[in-house]
Amino acid sequence: MKAIKIENPGQDSRLNIENFPVPEPAGNEVLIRVEATAMNRADLMQMAGRYPVPKGVTEIPGLEAAGIIEEVGSEVTGLSKGDRVCTLLDGGGYAEFVVADQNMIMKIPDNLSFEQAAAIPEVFLTAWQALYWLAGLKNKETILIHAGASGVGTAAIQLSKHFSNANIVVTAGTDEKLALCKNIGASLGINYKKQDFEKVISDSLGRSYVDVIIDFIGAPYWNQNLELLNLDGRMVMLAMLGGPRDELSLGKILRKRLTVMGSTLRNRTLTYKQELTKDFAVHALPLFANGKLKPIIDRTYNLDEVEVARHRMEENKNAGKLVLKVGQ
Ligand SMILES: NC(=O)c1ccc[n+]([C@@H]2O[C@H](COP(=O)([O-])OP(=O)(O)OC[C@H]3O[C@@H](n4cnc5c(N)ncnc54)[C@H](OP(=O)(O)O)[C@@H]3O)[C@@H](O)[C@H]2O)c1
Repeated sequence: MKAIKIENPGQDSRLNIENFPVPEPAGNEVLIRVEATAMNRADLMQMAGRYPVPKGVTEIPGLEAAGIIEEVGSEVTGLSKGDRVCTLLDGGGYAEFVVADQNMIMKIPDNLSFEQAAAIPEVFLTAWQALYWLAGLKNKETILIHAGASGVGTAAIQLSKHFSNANIVVTAGTDEKLALCKNIGASLGINYKKQDFEKVISDSLGRSYVDVIIDFIGAPYWNQNLELLNLDGRMVMLAMLGGPRDELSLGKILRKRLTVMGSTLRNRTLTYKQELTKDFAVHALPLFANGKLKPIIDRTYNLDEVEVARHRMEENKNAGKLVLKVGQ
C-alpha cells in the first residue's frame, strides 16, 4: 500500500509517499481501506522530530481516518466488510489501509462524506473529553476557548453550545477566524493580536466571570486565565503553543479554589479511549446526522499535496480541519 513516510524527522524533514506492507488485523481489529484522514498538530511535531511515536505504534503519521471496512478480525462483532466508519488512531492514518480496534470504530452517519467524517475523531473526542469528562461544563456556564478557530476549538464551541447552552467567549488571531467562531456559536470573539483578551472580557463581563477555560497557549496566558476564572473555576490545558515557562503566579489557584488540569489524549489507555469513543458515539455522533453538529473543514488536499497542508498548518492559516483525501 502507499503511505506517507517522514524522511529525516527534524528541521529538514520531508514527507514522501512510499510502499508499505498492508497491516494485518488482529482478532479484535478491523482493516480499513482509508478514504480520508486529517492533519493534526501532533503530526507536525512528529515530522519535526519532537514527538516520538508511542511504543509499538507505526511510524506512519495520522491520528484519525475514515473509510470502508475491508476485513474484520475473528473476534469482531457488530461490524462487517463494507461498513463506512471513522476512528481515532494511535498512528498510521496517512495510508491506504490502517487497522483499528473494533471498540474505537464509529459508524459514519449517512449524510457525511468520508472527508467530513475524517475531520471528526481527534478534535471532537478531545473537546468532548475536555468539556465533559474533565471540566464538567454545566448548563449556561461561561466558557473561554482560546484558539477558537482551531480544529479542537471549533469542536469545543459547537459541543458547549449544543450540550450546555454555554456563553462562549473565544480568542483567535484573525477577524475571519472570529467570524467563523461566531457563526458556530461563540457570543464574544477577541482578536488577541489587536486586543488584550483579559481586559475585553473583564470590561464586558466582569472580572472572575469565566467558569471554564480550554487553553492551548500555556505560560503567556497563565496569569490572565487565572484572573478571569470564577470561584471554583476549571481550566483544561491541552497544549502549550506559547511555551511552558514564565513568571507564574499560583496564589489564585488557592484563593479561588481553582482546578487546573492537563491532558493528552494519545497516551491514554486503550480502555479509556474506547469508553470515550462510546460515550461520544452515543451522545454526540447522532447530532451530525441532523446537522446540529458539523465537521469544520478548512481545506481538503490529495495525499500527494501533504506538504502544502503541512505548511498551511505550520503558518496557523487553517480555520478548522485540514483533510487529506487518500482514496480516489
Ligand atoms: N492534549 C490533547 O489531548 C490534544 C488533542 C488534540 C490537539 N491538541 C493540541 O491542541 C492544539 C490545537 O490543535 P488543533 O489541531 O485544533 O490545531 P489547529 O487547528 O492547527 O489550530 C491551532 C491554532 O492555534 C493558534 N495558535 C498557534 N500558536 C499560537 C500562539 N503562540 N498563541 C496563540 N494562538 C496560537 C493559531 O490560531 P490563531 O490564528 O487564532 O492564532 C492556530 O491556527 C494543538 O497544539 C494540538 O497539538 C491536544
